Parts: sequence; structure tokens; C-alpha cells
Amino acid sequence: MSSSVPLLCLPLFPGSDSISIEDGVFSWSRNDTPSLKRLSVHVPDGSLVAVVGHVGSGKSSLLSALLGEMEKLEGSVSVKGSVAYVPQQAWIQNATLKDNIVFGQERKESWYHRVVEACALLPDLEILPAGDGTEIGEKGVNLSGGQKQRVSLARAVYCDCAVYLLDDPLSAVDAHVGKHIFEKVVGPQGVLKDRVRGRNPKTEGRVYNRDVFWCVC
Ligand SMILES: Nc1ncnc2c1ncn2[C@@H]1O[C@H](COP(=O)(O)OP(=O)(O)OP(=O)(O)O)[C@@H](O)[C@H]1O
Ligand SMILES: [Mg+2]
Repeated sequence: MSSSVPLLCLPLFPGSDSISIEDGVFSWSRNDTPSLKRLSVHVPDGSLVAVVGHVGSGKSSLLSALLGEMEKLEGSVSVKGSVAYVPQQAWIQNATLKDNIVFGQERKESWYHRVVEACALLPDLEILPAGDGTEIGEKGVNLSGGQKQRVSLARAVYCDCAVYLLDDPLSAVDAHVGKHIFEKVVGPQGVLKDRVRGRNPKTEGRVYNRDVFWCVC
């Protein structure tokens, strides 16, 4: 990919960059030919960015480059603050559904319930035999693809980070569920916005108070 992958950047507030890549050249291993070339990306604080491109064009690779999972052959990469990453392939631990979301972090019940609702998991909890106490088998064997994806997203939202890298997070959900998640998680009224607004009076009034970097096909 590359600089030729269309990058739609919607900076809502001017300021410093939360994510930047300057003249980046990246490969999957030191001796490989570069997969990402001449890449410059600047994501201002408080932006929602969509990366759009053909299958195999390098959208997931771009996120891997930001996460330091690719070899950086040239250029510089900077990501400010804590990062939550939702990979394209959702992963699930052999644990209860709730433990898959809380994932060892502090238990905050009201926040947990808001996250579960925002990620459209309430109908799933009604179906599962023991609700959120249901043991999820190896690799999420007793969850559908959409359920795994929603749990994976909920884990990231629950952890309350500064930068969100979401790789095709709605690919396995129905259109109406995708709309619900977009509005309740990522959108201007989503829980990510509310979460920070409630805790940081300095950012009150912003539409997006953190960076959401959203990768779509
Ligand atoms: N872990 C990896 N190791 C080596 N090569 C990889 C790895 N991940 C991706 N690639 C290669 O990088 C190129 C871009 O793949 P990538 O997964 O970034 O595309 P994508 O735009 O996310 O595709 P899709 O729309 O299918 O998700 C492909 O040629 C792919 O084979
Ligand atoms: Mg991909």
C-alpha cells in the first residue's frame, strides 16, 4: 500500500497530532521488500479517521506499522497515549464472557453495562445459557462470528484508552447492529466521547475527545 490508499481524514479539532508517520517505509521482516512505502499520515488530536482501500491493499498493515509490529526501514512513527487495538480477526479467551471484556482490569459495573449495551451485546446475554457468566470455549467456539467481534470491541472500549485502532470492527455484524455500534461507540454521542467528557472537564464540549482510528474495507 501506500500513500496511494485513499485516506479520509476528518479532523474535528485543530491541535497536535496523536498519530503521525513521517516518510515511513515498512516491511514484514528486515529482508523483505517494503509493503508500505513513502507513507506519511497525520491524525490530529480528536479525529475520527477512516482508512479505505481494496482487499490486500495494506489497511491492516498500516495499523500493524503503528503498533510496531512491522519492521520500520525508514521514517518515524509516533502514537501518543495508551492504545486499544481491535484486530480484524476477533480473539476470545477461554473464560467467561464478562472476563473476556473486563480482561483483568478494575471492575466498574456501571461502565461495564454501558459498554455491553453500546456494543449491542444485550440480546446475546439473553440467549447465552448463563448470560455474561457463560464460559466461552477455546477460540470462542460457542460464539458466532458477530458475537466474537462484539466481545472483542467491548474489551477495547472497556479498557478506556486514548487511541483506538479498530480494524474492520463491523465486518461480521448486520447493518442495523453496525449502525447501533457506530452511534453508541464511535459516533459523536458514543460512549468513548462520554467517558472522557465525564472525567476530564478540560475537554468538555468536544465532540470527540480521543482519537479513533477506524479501518474499513
Ligand atoms: N503478518 C503478515 N506477514 C507477512 N505479510 C503480511 C502479513 N499481514 C499482511 N501481509 C501482507 O501484506 C499485504 C497487505 O495485507 P493487509 O492485511 O494489510 O491488507 P488489507 O487491506 O487489510 O486487506 P483486507 O481488506 O483483506 O483486510 C498482503 O499482501 C498480505 O499478504
Ligand atoms: Mg485487513
